[in-house]
Amino acid sequence: MTRGKLLKPSEVAERLGVDAGTVGRYIRDKRLPAIYTAGGHHRVYEADVDAFLARVERPRDAGAIIIALINQKGGVGKTTATANLGVLMHEIGLRVLVVDLDPQGSLTWSLGYQPDSVQHTIFDAIKGEPEIPMSEVIMRTEAGPDLASNNILATQADRALFGKVTWGTRLTHLLGEVRKHYDYILLDCAPNLNSLTVNALHAADYAVIPTQLEMLSVNGLRELLQRIEEARKEANARLRVAGAVAMMVQHANSNREVEQILREGLDEWGIRVFQTVIKRSTQYGTVANRQGVMASMNPRGEHTQAYRHLLAELLQTVGGPGVERIPMLESTGNTGASTSTGTRGSGRGTANTAASSDDGVAAVGATSTAGTARATGVSASARPLGGER
Ligand SMILES: Nc1ncnc2c1ncn2[C@@H]1O[C@H](COP(=O)(O)OP(=O)(O)OP(=O)(O)O)[C@@H](O)[C@H]1O
Ligand SMILES: [Mg+2]
Repeated sequence: MTRGKLLKPSEVAERLGVDAGTVGRYIRDKRLPAIYTAGGHHRVYEADVDAFLARVERPRDAGAIIIALINQKGGVGKTTATANLGVLMHEIGLRVLVVDLDPQGSLTWSLGYQPDSVQHTIFDAIKGEPEIPMSEVIMRTEAGPDLASNNILATQADRALFGKVTWGTRLTHLLGEVRKHYDYILLDCAPNLNSLTVNALHAADYAVIPTQLEMLSVNGLRELLQRIEEARKEANARLRVAGAVAMMVQHANSNREVEQILREGLDEWGIRVFQTVIKRSTQYGTVANRQGVMASMNPRGEHTQAYRHLLAELLQTVGGPGVERIPMLESTGNTGASTSTGTRGSGRGTANTAASSDDGVAAVGATSTAGTARATGVSASARPLGGER
């Protein structure tokens, strides 16, 4: 799990077969993550050099990068992060599918659907018998990303999958059906390490670990990190931890605390802690009560801006589609620019951005749509797929 040695730019240059000036440019353009030494020199982790090479070598038709938002601890902000990152990815023109792997169905709900009224959930498809294609599971949302929903019936997952040889790879197989239609697939895991969560670890290229600051330590995350390591060894050698995110932070000096934690060891384990911290705010509750997503309802607010920074860091870490759009993320919000900065021009996901109420959350508009949704006619394969990279 180590990120390896810290390399000097000259050593990086040697590994990449370019000159040191080019490495400097990669670092300046944020294509290659680097840290500063106390003396002000750049250093790059071996793992980041490997990731850079993998990105360069990644075929354009490899399909979506799959990212699991995972933490077996409840209420840390997994679903909120999934929804906001999904909406913001859509905003910059990326094709994104979010998958609700939690029987609570909170992601399904926040994206405008009544979990219990959905015709086919991701769990139905995972369970199989009868086989349900992903095209019948995936639904469009007003907020932007496509959604594979879930509901309470998925509490039966362990029992339903018990004894099946393929129990751990059902999700991998299903996402394989639609992977080529998306740039990113985000998996919102339930607060446990049961069979659906294991399916997520087997399907994902990256794990993102939302966590509260108090748990942001090797000890706090030990069990999860061990399960990730197991998944990597047994079934999914591709799996990497993209990073941990400090969520619901309320201390004024939180950035310094995160830095301290970094120095104290998480990064020796190879776990990046994203620089962006997500602050605690009652606005999230307001948005949740209105069945919405912060990034749609308050696109210019500081919390959405924080999620833009987080997305920029995430794109930079995983590489892949959208990396060249990071400047777009960094400028939106600062300039008061429209949220509709994507290349698809569909206007979806912007329905609620016009009027803001006093609490900074846009007046509820068309977010709470079609409670009795069905997948008919919105299959990922049937719809036009924009988002030229
Ligand atoms: N930054 C934040 N500040 C304050 N409240 C937040 C923040 N982010 C999310 N919340 C609220 O905290 C609660 C838990 O968030 P969320 O559902 O995203 O967590 P979760 O990890 O997905 O939970 P679970 O483990 O139950 O699935 C929700 O009511 C949400 O609206
Ligand atoms: Mg959740």
